Amino acid sequence: MNEITLGSFYIQSFIIGFIGLILVTVFFKLSGRTKLNEPPLAYYRFPIIGHTWSYLTDCEKLILESRKKYGETFSLYVFGQIQTVVGKETAHEVLKKDQVFNFREGYRTFLPLNFVFRQDMLAENNAKITRDYISGKFKHFINELQKNIIKAIDLYIGECVEPKIIREPRKTISDIIAIPVANIIVGEECCNNEDILEAFKNVSLLIAKLFYIPPILSFIHPWLHQQFIVIPLRFGWSQHKKVIISHIKPVIEKRLDNKKRLGDAWVAPLDILQCYLDDPEIVIDLDPNNVNYDYIADGIGHFIFATMTNTTIGTTNALYDLVEKKQYWQELYQEAQEINKQCNGNELTFNDIAKMVKLDSFVKESLRLATGIVGLSHKCIFKSYYTFANGYQIPSGRLVSLNFSDTNNDEELQGQNPTEFYAYRHLERDSPATKLERNFLTFGGGKRACPGRFLAVNEIKTFLHKVLLKYNVRTDNDEIGPKRGYLGPIPKPINVGLVFENRKEIEI
Ligand SMILES: *[C@@H]1O[C@H](CO)[C@@H](O)[C@H](O)[C@H]1NC(C)=O
Ligand SMILES: *[C@@H]1O[C@H](CO)[C@@H](O)[C@H](O)[C@H]1NC(C)=O
Ligand SMILES: *[C@@H]1O[C@H](CO)[C@@H](O)[C@H](O)[C@H]1NC(C)=O
Repeated sequence: MNEITLGSFYIQSFIIGFIGLILVTVFFKLSGRTKLNEPPLAYYRFPIIGHTWSYLTDCEKLILESRKKYGETFSLYVFGQIQTVVGKETAHEVLKKDQVFNFREGYRTFLPLNFVFRQDMLAENNAKITRDYISGKFKHFINELQKNIIKAIDLYIGECVEPKIIREPRKTISDIIAIPVANIIVGEECCNNEDILEAFKNVSLLIAKLFYIPPILSFIHPWLHQQFIVIPLRFGWSQHKKVIISHIKPVIEKRLDNKKRLGDAWVAPLDILQCYLDDPEIVIDLDPNNVNYDYIADGIGHFIFATMTNTTIGTTNALYDLVEKKQYWQELYQEAQEINKQCNGNELTFNDIAKMVKLDSFVKESLRLATGIVGLSHKCIFKSYYTFANGYQIPSGRLVSLNFSDTNNDEELQGQNPTEFYAYRHLERDSPATKLERNFLTFGGGKRACPGRFLAVNEIKTFLHKVLLKYNVRTDNDEIGPKRGYLGPIPKPINVGLVFENRKEIEI
């Protein structure tokens, strides 16, 4: 054989082997299903492809039609994996039974950050810090948050005496969010550092991009997809990690030195970095040569994801909603102004922000409708199989996703016109944005509900409050409101330029 035919022989064998591999995995997956009383597997025409194409291109229609035919619980065959989709009844069974349905394992299928920030128990420990520390010292964090949001708005939007066009609001909001978030994570000393802020923004963006990569390689095995999609993030993180360590190292040395010299008289800064430094497994004997920098940096990386990625998306959506739904602007402005007057232009306290009930309800409605079509996938980790209350059974390892539309479109749960944006829906039920309820799945539910929701909601409210008081905002082109669409089951990011202009009225 000459070289060319040898080459094509290899390629052909590779392709045949590849297809064979897919067929074998598909055979095993499908043959394993028969013994259990499984939820109906929705009809599909093409083997292997299954529902993948319609899932990607018109997920809404697929889910709607399947629901009509098969009821509340059914399975789809997407990217070579069987995925069970549950509606509003069973959703809460999934959220409540954390011994059976594991959220972390579920989202790692799509977002395997554990392959990037590779430390044991990192996500668990960070969740604990968020619950105990950030929520525990929320009053302090609220003050800092506010100062930093004001500072960031001044920096990135600034005075708009003349109308100012912001062509990529998502980017500007990411610039703004990075400042208060960096302050909470790495502290006063380096939260203004350009390199640190750039690392925060870039890492958050690299992670956000992962949401939108279709898991093609999952046709063979989800593991392959997981390994593949994190390559750019891994590479990016190794660069950013070095930058972050180089900047926090002197800060850590200084803090440890202060602690050693001053003992209990030293007032430790309140930030997540200090949380790590107080952990005797990360820093041994206050010795700067005995610091696990790797753990701290990876912890920071994971916190960037937890505090920036979805908060940026949520804040951007809420701002677009505010711009698009002009009918609420005046009333929200009045509420903002009243609260501002009551505190004489001083800093808002936690209670002041809690008083913004109309804005709160507005934000909750924005978050409610931004969930997408299906999501919050949990992995069934129960021994061998699990039987739902409705009698259907699924094997261990099955991915179970929640049908958001089933909850969002339900009149009994949501009140009138459930699919429409109605800003005071939650105010009328006296249900603040941080409260988990059967009609609101954005933050999940049960023990694993998002521990950062207090921070996220207060961040979004503070940002919108300042925007309401200072600016008029409209779309770049008045004719078009921001268009909503989906990429697979996930909302498409909106990208419409916005025009900011200082408010004309001068209030006394
Ligand atoms: C961060 O992202 C920006 C814009 O995408 C890019 O220009 C810059 O080089 C990135 N910085 C680093 C350190 O990777
Ligand atoms: C963040 O948003 C994405 C896209 O909407 C979603 O798939 C994901 O579950 C969210 N992450 C968390 C931790 O809530
Ligand atoms: C999701 O909910 C919507 C609204 O109730 C319904 O039309 C759709 O078929 C449901 N799908 C599933 C998976 O239950």
